[in-house]
Amino acid sequence: RYNLFLKGSWRQPNDSTPKAGKWNAFVCILYCHYTNVCLFFFVIWIVGNPSKFRIMTTGHYFSVILQKLEYPKVKGQLVIFGATNWDLIGRKEVPKQSAAFRNLGQNLWGPHRYGCLNDVQVSSVISGPCAAHSLLITTEGKLWSWGRNEKGQLGHGDNKRLEAPKLIETLADKTIVSAACGRNHTLALTEEGTAYSFGENKLGQLGQGNQTDAVLSPAAISYNGQPLVKVACGAEFSMVVDCKGNLYSFGCPEYGQLGHNSDGKFIARAQRIEFDCELIARRVAIFIEKSKDGQVVPVPNVVVRDVACGGNHTLILDSQKRVFSWGWGGYGRLGHTEQKDEMVPRLVKLFDFPGRGAAQIFTGYQCSFALSEMGGLFFWGVTNTSRESTMYPKSVQDLCGWKVRGLACGKSSILVAADESTISWGPSPTFGELVSSPIDGMHRFISHAPFTLSEKNETTKYIEQLLVRSPPAKKWSRSRRKCFFFFLKKGVPRCAKKKR
Ligand SMILES: *[C@@H]1O[C@H](CO)[C@@H](O)[C@H](O)[C@H]1NC(C)=O
Ligand SMILES: *[C@@H]1O[C@H](CO)[C@@H](O)[C@H](O)[C@H]1NC(C)=O
Ligand SMILES: *[C@@H]1O[C@H](CO)[C@@H](O)[C@H](O)[C@H]1NC(C)=O
Ligand SMILES: *[C@@H]1O[C@H](CO)[C@@H](O)[C@H](O)[C@H]1NC(C)=O
Ligand SMILES: *[C@@H]1O[C@H](CO)[C@@H](O)[C@H](O)[C@H]1NC(C)=O
Repeated sequence: RYNLFLKGSWRQPNDSTPKAGKWNAFVCILYCHYTNVCLFFFVIWIVGNPSKFRIMTTGHYFSVILQKLEYPKVKGQLVIFGATNWDLIGRKEVPKQSAAFRNLGQNLWGPHRYGCLNDVQVSSVISGPCAAHSLLITTEGKLWSWGRNEKGQLGHGDNKRLEAPKLIETLADKTIVSAACGRNHTLALTEEGTAYSFGENKLGQLGQGNQTDAVLSPAAISYNGQPLVKVACGAEFSMVVDCKGNLYSFGCPEYGQLGHNSDGKFIARAQRIEFDCELIARRVAIFIEKSKDGQVVPVPNVVVRDVACGGNHTLILDSQKRVFSWGWGGYGRLGHTEQKDEMVPRLVKLFDFPGRGAAQIFTGYQCSFALSEMGGLFFWGVTNTSRESTMYPKSVQDLCGWKVRGLACGKSSILVAADESTISWGPSPTFGELVSSPIDGMHRFISHAPFTLSEKNETTKYIEQLLVRSPPAKKWSRSRRKCFFFFLKKGVPRCAKKKR
């Protein structure tokens, strides 16, 4: 794999939507990804449709990656544990109206696999902190979905709930590289940088230019800017990032989570409060910093590299390793030492120091996490609203010294992939999603095989990626914790050589 770094000037360096036509560039360094060696210099001309190329400005260099977007190079097996029957959560028995599901789905107190995925290699698994549906992407870039489906969020053209993963046929001719789940809607991103959406659209969260009850089959969002590289979903809103680092949002603006300096509220007929939803991806234009005395200063040059959404808040990471947050501020989830809602992306001070920036960001339903450049994990917000909230990013001391590779959080349980172990914690009760005994506090397990877990096993399989999901609160308010974990395991190395 190669990256081509082009030094020189484009004909239209400031044009954000370059037109098809001739491009020229002068000096080019062919840079080998694996050996970190510059191989040679030469001069190239690019003729053709620029939209085929991803263009990013990195300092005074332009880098053109003559490749389509890539999906993770993981080849894994999907493993599930936790509660799997929505109707059983918070109840002793499945209610009468859901009798058809009575014999389906137990709480799984250990990792299990889906039979239908025996021959399927998985590169990534996706859900959201308020979703009750899940997605997986195979190593061929095919998207599968399963779970609840009242609004067609599974993309199969109907609203039948699915107990096991099923290929989304209408996207089968596309190569999907990533996806995101909102409460009742889904976004999928193709390797060409086009986003498809399906599911609930009452608040415009599908970005298709209108508000409809539900869209049962995938349709492209209405957007004609630069190719997209990231998608994320909150409960009833969505975010996309283009290859130039511009952030766009659409859907429900209720708590300012869209970042357009408004909560969209207006009084409609009969004194009813309604919301002016964004129906088409709209660029988030302003990023700010607030001083202690409330003075607001705009922060220029924010190039968005990653975005993560909680239920009603959003977090971004920019190219300078800064973190911004906005939306619902309750319980300190924004990390600004106050609970006010923010209508515009606001800088999180703690990560705004050279050498102490953030490397990765994650969100739970009402909380946020960042992994610092130095490797420390920070947490803010709450996982249990009857306990104290963390109002600003605080280091998770128990994980000092661990190399955190991934993190997932639903409503209250947290799962961390660190070194070659998986660490989980969260308040009780649980439904098996923490795997070992559900006790308050943190505990550790090492996972090696799909169905057995024991300490200190030298097998090299380990959990590569993970996520947690919690069904939405309203319907199951009786239950206090509802979480699901999906683990994606790295495949067994094919021929581990024995030492003589
Ligand atoms: C969204 O889905 C959840 C279950 O997934 C359901 O309880 C809720 O009513 C849905 N919301 C709407 C507005 O349909
Ligand atoms: C909503 O927009 C989509 C995409 O533009 C279109 O296919 C669909 O027919 C529209 N629905 C309604 C009810 O206007
Ligand atoms: C998010 O907003 C919804 C309404 O859109 C509300 O019901 C819910 O409680 C909020 N959730 C959080 C975590 O703030
Ligand atoms: C490690 O796990 C493998 C696969 O589950 C099992 O066969 C082996 O006995 C385990 N070894 C130890 C030391 O537990
Ligand atoms: C939150 O904490 C309280 C007090 O420790 C506990 O009783 C309750 O079960 C917890 N709730 C959840 C959702 O874990």
